[in-house]
Amino acid sequence: MQEVQRLASAVIGQVLGGRSLDSELAMLWRGHPGLSAQQRATTQDLCFGTLRFLGRLDALLDALVDKPLRDDKLRGLLRVALYQLEYTKAAPHAIVDHAVRACERLGLGAAKGLANAVLRAFLRRRAALVAQARHSDVGRFSYPQWWIDKLRIEYPADHAAILDAGNRHPPLTLRVNRRRTTMEAYLAQLAANGTVARAIGEAAVLLERPRPVAGISGFADGLVSVQDAAAQRAAPLLDLGPGLRVLDACAAPGGKAAHMLELADVDLTALDSDAARLERVRANFARLGLAARVVCGDACDPGNWWDGRPFDRILADVPCSASGVVRRHPDIKWLRRPADIAQFALVQRRMLDALWQLLASGGKLLYATCSVFHEENHLQVAEFLKRQRDAQRLTLPGADTNQQQPMGQMLPDERHDGFFYALLQKN
Ligand SMILES: C[S@@+](CC[C@H](N)C(=O)[O-])C[C@H]1O[C@@H](n2cnc3c(N)ncnc32)[C@H](O)[C@@H]1O
Repeated sequence: MQEVQRLASAVIGQVLGGRSLDSELAMLWRGHPGLSAQQRATTQDLCFGTLRFLGRLDALLDALVDKPLRDDKLRGLLRVALYQLEYTKAAPHAIVDHAVRACERLGLGAAKGLANAVLRAFLRRRAALVAQARHSDVGRFSYPQWWIDKLRIEYPADHAAILDAGNRHPPLTLRVNRRRTTMEAYLAQLAANGTVARAIGEAAVLLERPRPVAGISGFADGLVSVQDAAAQRAAPLLDLGPGLRVLDACAAPGGKAAHMLELADVDLTALDSDAARLERVRANFARLGLAARVVCGDACDPGNWWDGRPFDRILADVPCSASGVVRRHPDIKWLRRPADIAQFALVQRRMLDALWQLLASGGKLLYATCSVFHEENHLQVAEFLKRQRDAQRLTLPGADTNQQQPMGQMLPDERHDGFFYALLQKN
């Protein structure tokens, strides 16, 4: 266990230094090919869990030491061990013993006594310490204070529910590829394999227990893709039909583009500025048996890739803060800075303005983010409508029923991620 504690605390240290969790984990797996599947799964859980509850863990740690811990490695190791003690079923004595031994491996031999004392004190005073940690916003919600303040202003009634939803384990939802099977046939296939699942949308299937992609029945054969139910709303909203010229302006890794191709025989251009991510688009299309034009280019600068023929439909699934999907990427909470939101909004504005010029008269553009922040969502669209006099916003069919929220805003819950959609038509 000490090996995984050590690896997880190193990864978390890198993340808090500014690196993404996905890329750090990918690097870790490459650098440690000998790790067993069990060790990988545990390391991954320690990284995700510690980052998910980092605010709470730091509040606990601060209450357990007399002086602030200066050594980042020690702090990292204790965060991981506290996460294990508070949130996992591992035996407490083993967690403490291994963490103390891990000190040695990290060159922190002199801190063994302190580590032991801190973790044992936590076990003795756990209930009181947890109650105390919950008194501060960061200790209660485990998000940076600015993020909590922002949601409190933007969602006075729902901010606590949104923050808590972001700390839960995400659901695993599949999209049934209707070119290869049907909902009924696929549900029967899952049942035959003993997989408990239920349909939660036209093509969406929620698995009761998450599992690795490779173990999902029919995945390799292109029967299904992994896609959140909120993301699955995009393609049907675009009202697709055979032969329509469609642009997916931010296509990688290709989830929504593939869904569009599954729904209709459209003439699709899948654009993205990231060549490496476009390889994933190609791989997804190949697995699902789909075909489209895949283009590397900047959506803000169509002069470099556009052939001048207008598109009937455009999906602008723009880069954003990803504040609606933090339960899948808990590192985002700690990587984002307040100024990033305005920066994202600026890029989104440029992208919307550039893409609008490519839309045919009467055509539709679907603006999408996986954010819950207003600047990126309904405020962005309101500003756009003021600038573009030939644009009108359409009411979304089957919109979320929560009338308290701005139109198109989906808040994260047990069925889907936080998402925002605005459907715009050119007069
Ligand atoms: C939210 S993701 C898209 C997810 C995708 N639509 C899907 O459903 O799988 C945003 C994408 O925008 C791409 N991107 C960022 N800036 C871009 C730009 N200026 N032009 C085109 N793509 C861009 C990123 O590389 C990223 O793949």
